[in-house]
Amino acid sequence: MDAREAEKRIKELTGQIEYHNRKYYVEDNPVISDYEFDMLMKELLGLEAQFPELAAPDSPARRVGGEPIKEFSPVRHVSAMLSLDNTYNKNDLSGFDGRVRRLAPDARFDYFVELKIDGIASSLTYEDGRLTVAATRGDGLTGDDITHNARTIRSIPLSIRNIPESLSGMRFHVRGEIFLPLKSFEKINDERLSGGLEPFANPRNAAGGSLKQLDPNITAKRGLDFFAYQLVPEDEPLMFETQSGSMEALEEMGFKVNGHNRKCPDIGCVVGFCNEWEDKRAGLPYEIDGMVIKVDDLRLQGRLGSTGKTPRWAISYKFPAKQATTKVNDIIASVGRTGAVTPVAFLEPVRIGGVTVSRASLYNADYLKALEINVGDTVLVERGGEVIPKVVEVVKKGPNEEAFSLPDNCPECKGKLVREEGEAATRCINISCPVQLQKNVEHYASRGAMDIEGLGPKVIDLLIREGLIEDFADLYELTAEQLVPLERMGEKSAGNLIDNIGRSKDRPLSRLYYGLGIRHVGGRSAEILAGRFNSLDELAAAEPSGLETINEIGPVMAKAIRDFFREERNLHVINKLKAAGVRTAEEKKVRPGDETPRSLSGRTFVFTGAISLPRAEAEDMVKSRGGKVTSSVSRKTDYVVAGADPGSKYENAKRLGVRIISEEEFKNMLG
Ligand code: IVH
Repeated sequence: MDAREAEKRIKELTGQIEYHNRKYYVEDNPVISDYEFDMLMKELLGLEAQFPELAAPDSPARRVGGEPIKEFSPVRHVSAMLSLDNTYNKNDLSGFDGRVRRLAPDARFDYFVELKIDGIASSLTYEDGRLTVAATRGDGLTGDDITHNARTIRSIPLSIRNIPESLSGMRFHVRGEIFLPLKSFEKINDERLSGGLEPFANPRNAAGGSLKQLDPNITAKRGLDFFAYQLVPEDEPLMFETQSGSMEALEEMGFKVNGHNRKCPDIGCVVGFCNEWEDKRAGLPYEIDGMVIKVDDLRLQGRLGSTGKTPRWAISYKFPAKQATTKVNDIIASVGRTGAVTPVAFLEPVRIGGVTVSRASLYNADYLKALEINVGDTVLVERGGEVIPKVVEVVKKGPNEEAFSLPDNCPECKGKLVREEGEAATRCINISCPVQLQKNVEHYASRGAMDIEGLGPKVIDLLIREGLIEDFADLYELTAEQLVPLERMGEKSAGNLIDNIGRSKDRPLSRLYYGLGIRHVGGRSAEILAGRFNSLDELAAAEPSGLETINEIGPVMAKAIRDFFREERNLHVINKLKAAGVRTAEEKKVRPGDETPRSLSGRTFVFTGAISLPRAEAEDMVKSRGGKVTSSVSRKTDYVVAGADPGSKYENAKRLGVRIISEEEFKNMLG
């Protein structure tokens, strides 16, 4: 293909990809399969690699993979991004209606009522139909430049194809809310928890945190979304007659506009619509914190104007907070798989935001101390996002003067509880604590781990009580004869269970890495580890410093892995697994660097930091063996040789998952 043909094809592909992006992310109505979409993208990437000069800066192939920025620069908004007057009281809505009618006694108008999305208000600037700048609201006058991150949000058009004639050639701004759907929120929090990080308190904070990333590759993975709620043409503010009309125009241009918004002829209809969503909001896949009521007529909006920071033509009705007061019936200390002891409050059941809540986590000893809570107290409970409800404060003390504190001994095995310095959790460190054993075996047998069908909590409890297992490796020693006498276990189910246990011996290594129950190692981390370490022995021998060079493995997880393999009883269990024939190694995948190649042909090296050899000499050693040396790290780099005080190339290599080697390893490689 020559350059002219390539240019034509790139244009076609760009149009098709943007179209299908819109179908998928904006309209929720894909018309081709993911596979077909991937093929279009692959073709575009291929052509752009072949003809880099034809790759447009706003090509859909460049939504992800942009370079990290150094800091957020300020962006001044063309016109202030106002905030809204709030009310929590539906009677105030009539007050608002009365004020508008007094200010415009002659006007006949509708209201346009929108869902108030709980996210981060942002403004997108388009010039010649192309997204040029995206900024957060900030203080209303100046926000942060988040263009690099906004480009990764698939429902934000990078370029607008069917731009209305009235807008073409004009600079305009699309304002709206960047938010995190609940599903993505839960996923992020799961990952954070398994990585040993604090979970985000609610989707709004998670969206804010995701937008604050300097590296757009991280933001791209977060699953952010965008609803448009205002169109601001720069030269011609009254280009459209109504808010509802401008929303339709935005929709036609490919923006996502909330489909539940509704036009109301009077305030009675507005109140009814607010009531409706107070109930229905629990069923939405994203969070809303209220409704926004806007005068639909844009000319009238202009006449009404604003007072300081808020417009006179709009008001927000905020739903009551998802909080309620109730009584504490009991507090127990619950022991988890890792021995962590969590205080849990059992509450008089209370409805909060459509859900009945009867338990709340009290987290740890510090939280207990700050709350000074005890059984019989009346407490304020809050349900944020989809996270576990939490006790916010004690509103009325009950009969117990003193505060509840964690016991000195494990409520399950009576072993001593300890709290290590710098740790929030109090733990039971008894190796044979039956609750930990129960939860450990449940985890080992779970779907995401060794997937042993028929081995549920009840059976595990029986096996432990009958003294048939002391760790999960003992499962492989069980016989059908031992199982048959157990409660509700016939010959057939005993036989099936033994077969299922046997079958789990051949699970992929990543499942075993996960099933071992190493603290902070979740399913995804286990897969990453299995991609690097072909055997349990290799993983056991890894040092934290080496583990940390792997993309997505942080210091907390690295230390947890090392600690796990230093523990004598864990090594004992591993030996038993090996003896039972559980797969603990996989065929070696051929990876660059496993062998010691005399020839470095086809290998690309990058040097960073100070090494003992003169840099030029080291580079010559690579080149003389047929290898290549480049100055910056990309996915195509095979090795980054890191000396003392490595620079940003080291970070880039980590981020891209490029193999980092020391000077010594480099020398070994050369033989
Ligand atoms: S209109 C002058 N519409 O609520 C118009 N705001 O305090 C100002 N919000 O900062 C905003 N959904 O973050 C508008 N449909 C919607 C909205 C909405 C959410 C947020 C926005 C704004 C805050 C108002």
